[in-house]
Amino acid sequence: MDTQILSADAAGIKTACDWLAQGMPVAVPTETVYGLAADARNSKAVARIYEAKGRPSFNPLIVHLPDLAEVEKIATLGPQARALAEAFWPGPLTMVLPLRAQSGIASITTAGLDTVGIRVPSHAGMQRLMRAFGGPLAAPSANPSGRVSATSAQHVADIASGLGGRIPAVLDDGASPVGVESTIIGWSDDGQPALLRPGGLPAEAIEALLGVRLLHPESNHDAPTSPGQLLSHYAPSVGLRMEVRDPAPHETYLAFGPSDHPHALNLSESGDLTEAAAQLFDLLRRADLLGRAIAVAPIPETGLGAAINDRLRRAAAPR
Ligand code: TXA
Ligand code: MG
Repeated sequence: MDTQILSADAAGIKTACDWLAQGMPVAVPTETVYGLAADARNSKAVARIYEAKGRPSFNPLIVHLPDLAEVEKIATLGPQARALAEAFWPGPLTMVLPLRAQSGIASITTAGLDTVGIRVPSHAGMQRLMRAFGGPLAAPSANPSGRVSATSAQHVADIASGLGGRIPAVLDDGASPVGVESTIIGWSDDGQPALLRPGGLPAEAIEALLGVRLLHPESNHDAPTSPGQLLSHYAPSVGLRMEVRDPAPHETYLAFGPSDHPHALNLSESGDLTEAAAQLFDLLRRADLLGRAIAVAPIPETGLGAAINDRLRRAAAPR
């Protein structure tokens, strides 16, 4: 099938809605990364997401909704979840919440769990699409399983490294401004908030709002709480090592701050973590295409640095 690139105007959104209503997945822009969306109530449509991505079927998907009123039809929010929703939605935060009975969400969407990961994206084009479609959209990141996430419609439509030829359309609304996936928060059985995946919303901001420290179950990689958190998830095809101050001349150097290495791709010349996050997947992809081993400069573990390092550790993990 040919993958059509749609502009995010009224006609493009109409075409995207038509594909979604027919049970086909469509790639969509969000502020974090591009998503591969399908009607979360339609199990066949959701299965086509897994198929297009080649994704292991036990992995639950995030459901995207335009506002809190729509979220409350599908999931229940405790006091902490409500406070986080009011402070950080719309935006790069996903919360794993108890699923309501009669929510209408297909069980393939949640991989059979009685919880659902929900996000209210702020992206203007995605907001227009969600309101035009009028139903919950399940959407993982729009990349083949195990490959780096896509932050532009061109990444998505690429035949070799993306989903080109496997999906009918991509709604193109420019580069994703945040550039890493959403931060995922869940609650333990005894009600403690936990960081399931670092991402575009710094964990420090969540801890400051709640006034508590988050549990960090994701550091136990043998028993992932969030099933997508397998170590080698974000994988370029060449080797990658981290915390490198003196890269070898034959390596591609992913620099952070000034560098005069002959093969430097710079995440941020000025050492800005937000800029580095927004560039990360694009530069990983470019480095991968160069075919040389990748050495990455030390990145501070604060703010968006935690999400960047998490992605890099997965890219560096042996497989
Ligand atoms: O920024 C984002 O979050 C992007 C955009 C498209 O919204 N989406 C995204 O989705 O990164 P995905 O599928 O690549 O990652 C979703 C993660 C997976 O690791 C999955 O296991 C976890 O969320 N997840 C979803 N629902 C869950 C649930 N009910 N319980 C535990 N983990 C869940
Ligand atoms: Mg993903």
